[in-house]
Amino acid sequence: MKKNSWSRRDFIRASTGAAAAGATARYTLLQPTPLWASPQPVAPSDRVRFAAIGTGIRGCILLDASLRVPGVECVAICDLYDTRRLSAEQALKKSVPWSRDYRAILDRKDIDAVIVAVHDHQHRRVFVDACAAGKDVYCEKPMSHSVEDGFAMVEAAQKSNRIAQIGSQRVSSILYARAKEIYDSGKLGEVYAIQASWDRNDPGGAFVCPIPPDANEQTVDWTAFLEGAPKRPFDPIRFFRWRCFADYGSGLAGDLFVHLISGIHFVTSTNTIAQRAQSVGGLFHYKDGRDFPDLIETFYDYPNFRVTLRCNLNNDQGEFFGFYGTKGTLIIKESTVTFTAQDTHPEPDLYTVSWWPEKLRNDYLAQWREDHPSPPPLKSRLDQESEVFALPSGYDDVVDHEANFFQAVRSRKKVVENEEFGNHAAIGCHLANYSYFKRTAAVWDAAAKKIVG
Ligand SMILES: NC(=O)c1ccc[n+]([C@@H]2O[C@H](COP(=O)([O-])OP(=O)(O)OC[C@H]3O[C@@H](n4cnc5c(N)ncnc54)[C@H](O)[C@@H]3O)[C@@H](O)[C@H]2O)c1
Repeated sequence: MKKNSWSRRDFIRASTGAAAAGATARYTLLQPTPLWASPQPVAPSDRVRFAAIGTGIRGCILLDASLRVPGVECVAICDLYDTRRLSAEQALKKSVPWSRDYRAILDRKDIDAVIVAVHDHQHRRVFVDACAAGKDVYCEKPMSHSVEDGFAMVEAAQKSNRIAQIGSQRVSSILYARAKEIYDSGKLGEVYAIQASWDRNDPGGAFVCPIPPDANEQTVDWTAFLEGAPKRPFDPIRFFRWRCFADYGSGLAGDLFVHLISGIHFVTSTNTIAQRAQSVGGLFHYKDGRDFPDLIETFYDYPNFRVTLRCNLNNDQGEFFGFYGTKGTLIIKESTVTFTAQDTHPEPDLYTVSWWPEKLRNDYLAQWREDHPSPPPLKSRLDQESEVFALPSGYDDVVDHEANFFQAVRSRKKVVENEEFGNHAAIGCHLANYSYFKRTAAVWDAAAKKIVG
């Protein structure tokens, strides 16, 4: 699903976009960070020994990526579904000690850090226990399943002085770093409007994943899965398609908005919670008993700009960000970033004066020319060049995000996406769902640390 290479189609799409904007385009292929491209040797004493808690789809992707991070080693794995042991070993290309109970991992003194990729409703429990056991934690997004969970997790990490990295990997991507550089340069002017969307139209993308035929009450620890959720009889649909159910996941907001919000917060250096959100949407196609809509659109108020987000499971337009400034526009579309300047040169208002009586019009134009003695030549005004930056083939931001975490574990320096950043982004998702389900604006009450209607 991940599109991270600069394909012929990307070039055509980018140049079509630039042409449509009346612009020529200059193309640059971004270079990976040195750490990723040519790993520095890490002294054996500096090797980080970590364990993976939750080795489902995401856990395995993270294990696979960890093989490309220098100086780290996975020494234990844990999951509630026995078959995931084989998946994890396949990702790691070796076998390591395995358990169903993550506390067995936390008891081990030789483990420095844990990667937590469990269902969302279990994030808090595993994260808080891991911090209390002195482990640094890489925890998947969305950090929290509720507002209360998020603040408990922030407190746990800070109280025990742990490094915590939340798993919205785009904030470590060289693509987003370039977008941020452009944003910070001021070339966009003032940015008051930001729009982002993520549309996909395949059943897997709508959380309708196949159920493995060997899943049953012997191979799945159903009791442990229900920790922190209402008790109910074994139901493999709930275990594997958990994102559809509010007891375990947060629907499209928790799954996809969180990436859009993290990307926007990162590019704009916004480490805060939106003040207010208003959602609309509906369940149009996937009427399979799920709790969440398959289309959600949310408008957010931030102190200095407004944000519009959309996720639609009934269209394939992919991922998109637009930052609309007074001097230019920045677009992130899959594996490219495009900046296009605007023509901000002054012009006489010919539309308004076109039906003024001749003398009035001529006087206005004469005055305008006097006020603007040297307007730029027409050619320079038409040549608004777009700059397009693209990811190199095979680039993987997950590797960079993990590398950033493991470096911090070693150095005790800051990560790119700590528990506060992750908490703020996750609350954006909770605001969206609150507004959708309560059919009202969701207002963030910062003093009370809660959402009010
Ligand atoms: N950053 C990203 O792009 C990205 C992509 C996909 C998923 N995720 C996140 O990763 C997490 C996992 O998602 P997934 O797609 O791998 O789901 P999944 O259902 O494939 O895997 C989750 C696994 O967690 C295990 N688990 C749950 N509670 C556990 C516990 N207490 N101890 C041990 N194992 C436990 C389950 O047995 C299951 O195998 C979610 O939070 C999800 O939002 C992030």
